[in-house]
Amino acid sequence: MSPMSSKLEVNKNDMHSIVKSFPQLLRHSSLDVRLREQLAEMRDDRPTGICFIGMGGSSIAGGYVATSLADTSRQPIAVVRDESLPEYIGQGYVSFVVSYSGNTQETLDAYEILAERGCHTVTMASGGLLSKKKADCFIRLPPGFPPRGALPAMFGALLQATQTILGVPTTDLNHMAEEINLAADSWGGNLSKPAALAEWMRGRIPVFMGSRHLYPVAYRAKCQMNENAKTEAFASPFPEATHNELEGFTEKRAGSFAIVLLKSRAEGATNAKRLDIVAEILSSAGHDCTIVTASAPTQMGEMLELTYHLDLTSVELADINGVDPLSVPKISALKKRLK
Ligand code: PA5
Repeated sequence: MSPMSSKLEVNKNDMHSIVKSFPQLLRHSSLDVRLREQLAEMRDDRPTGICFIGMGGSSIAGGYVATSLADTSRQPIAVVRDESLPEYIGQGYVSFVVSYSGNTQETLDAYEILAERGCHTVTMASGGLLSKKKADCFIRLPPGFPPRGALPAMFGALLQATQTILGVPTTDLNHMAEEINLAADSWGGNLSKPAALAEWMRGRIPVFMGSRHLYPVAYRAKCQMNENAKTEAFASPFPEATHNELEGFTEKRAGSFAIVLLKSRAEGATNAKRLDIVAEILSSAGHDCTIVTASAPTQMGEMLELTYHLDLTSVELADINGVDPLSVPKISALKKRLK
């Protein structure tokens, strides 16, 4: 990554500061020339597929890159959140193995399978065991963040690395950061401010729904509410949820959920109508439901803007819930007992 990573202005002991550094982290995640050259060598081997492997906060960026490139890539792009790998991921594939700490068991186990299968591997970590493993290329992440707080750094680097391997132009991350900053300036209009959204969620279980490129954003939001705000939260793919989950929101539990429908500005006419009707149906069953629309002009901008907004919302909700957004004691206890 760029040597500028060391000059980040962020207080890593404060989740508010970490989340607010989202555009800055993204800007600083550009790959340096040496990494680009190593990745270009992999492109010359004409990979037959790409795979992203990681757990929790280290799995989100791969999901975002896969979604962003799915419409244009001729090669299949898989996302694996598991210690076992589908049989088709083998020679010919380039696999990105991502663990912020570098010590996540599932990810390390998956790495060993890849090594046995003779896959090209790109490892990404801030340190730990993964950083010492043999790989075709290693991307070092800036240290000292909670894994989920380093999403913009992981995303920017993974995006440019994947684009280099696929031989397509790399995204200008400065421009993306600018797009998010501009979009954030408009919050308070159709998109209420993060503090207001968190206040609206107070005491209820957040549920996020999104279609296509906004489903990974819904999933990230759910994870941020779980880990930062220490609340149950759920994410559902749209319109699939309208064929099952919609029926489950009965009058009996009215008032229990805060349902956020994520809407793209480029939503197709049918899906846009579907979202509006679902909001009406849920409201008439007594549920609290809001539609949140991004203002960024591109699909990737929408994903990043809504992520930035909902990450901020999760930290605001942590304050409301009186919990520490940085520590994850249950996850840490589990990891310790499995060691
Ligand atoms: O954000 C977090 O703290 C977690 O979701 C971690 O990302 C997850 O437990 C995996 O750890 P790591 O990212 O270090 O591989």
